[in-house]
Amino acid sequence: MTTAQTKSARAFNFSAGPAMLPLEVLEASAKALIDYQGKGFGIAECSHRGKEFDGVIDEAIVRVKSLLGLSDTHDVLFLQGGATHLFTTIPMNFATGPVDYLVSGEWSQKAAKAAQAAGAKVNIVGTTEASNFDHSTAPAEWKLDPNAAYLHVCSNETVHGHRLPQWPTHPNLVVDASSEFMSRPHPATDAALIYAGAQKNLGPAGVVVAIVRKDWYPRIAKSVPALFNFQKQAEAKSMLNTPPTFGIYILLETFRWLEKQGGLAAMEKINEEKAGTIYSAIDGSNGYYKGTVSVAAQRSRMNLTFRLPNEEITDVFIKDAAKQGMVALKGYRTVGGIRASTYNAMPLEGAKALAQFMKDFAAKNG
Ligand SMILES: Cc1ncc(COP(=O)(O)O)c(C=O)c1O
Repeated sequence: MTTAQTKSARAFNFSAGPAMLPLEVLEASAKALIDYQGKGFGIAECSHRGKEFDGVIDEAIVRVKSLLGLSDTHDVLFLQGGATHLFTTIPMNFATGPVDYLVSGEWSQKAAKAAQAAGAKVNIVGTTEASNFDHSTAPAEWKLDPNAAYLHVCSNETVHGHRLPQWPTHPNLVVDASSEFMSRPHPATDAALIYAGAQKNLGPAGVVVAIVRKDWYPRIAKSVPALFNFQKQAEAKSMLNTPPTFGIYILLETFRWLEKQGGLAAMEKINEEKAGTIYSAIDGSNGYYKGTVSVAAQRSRMNLTFRLPNEEITDVFIKDAAKQGMVALKGYRTVGGIRASTYNAMPLEGAKALAQFMKDFAAKNG
């Protein structure tokens, strides 16, 4: 299949994850899968201890640091088990006392529960569960424990469609950035630990990126099993066991692609424009579409959630959109309605096509 054919066959895929990836990334990865740099074998067919994969992981680490402006204070890890693995192992490693959790949606709630299950004394600094997580509690209202070992937040709630406009400042901040990682510049140097499942902005499922401040390692108890121990993983360059080599390769291609786009500030600009295009269609619909997030400043730029007048017409909307090449618009099962995920790989044309479709659909059915 030629590039042109592949391109013309590609849908505007609004999936929340695993999500669409840039075509250039897929093409370069497909090539490397079959034959890596003319060696007669693919990148998924060689040892993780060999020089080919070593070069891949080294370059991936350097590029993450460069994209985020990180120095040697932090390690970059490529782990397995997803973001769920991370919010399970973080308290095992670092909850040396009580811990603060902001509960602002499905994912931060799961993280707080995982910390409780791990035996940590969890202080919920704020929750909006009573309003079905339609926004996040404002930082001024958070009831922080001055003795907390860390503060955990989810910077973008994938299911409920809102984000923290700014990451909070805290001496020991832990951020689940899964669904907005590298979609805008992040104050990464100020965080103690950032983690992100790859399957939104970075690559396929099966890899989770963790960025860990090295001065945190002395907190880790000897009883933490090596595989779950962040320091041991860092010392082994994420290779205590066989890592998901091809997944990490795809991430490397994404990091190269991000640099070619102009880095994270350039991504933020285009992501603002994409989200703005769709939010304008919601806000300009005379109430036909209703955004599900109650605080406008917190609206996600990655997962845009809204409702139509009823469930039947929502189904028609999803089916009609799919006929026009716009797929995976169904909202999360506990929330319903529509969720349009506009990660880095979604082109501006995709957002414009959806906004136009929304206008036409409302004019026909409103
Ligand atoms: C913000 C956030 N955190 C955590 C997760 C869990 O990720 P995983 O399925 O990789 O464990 C998700 C998955 O969608 C997510 O969106």
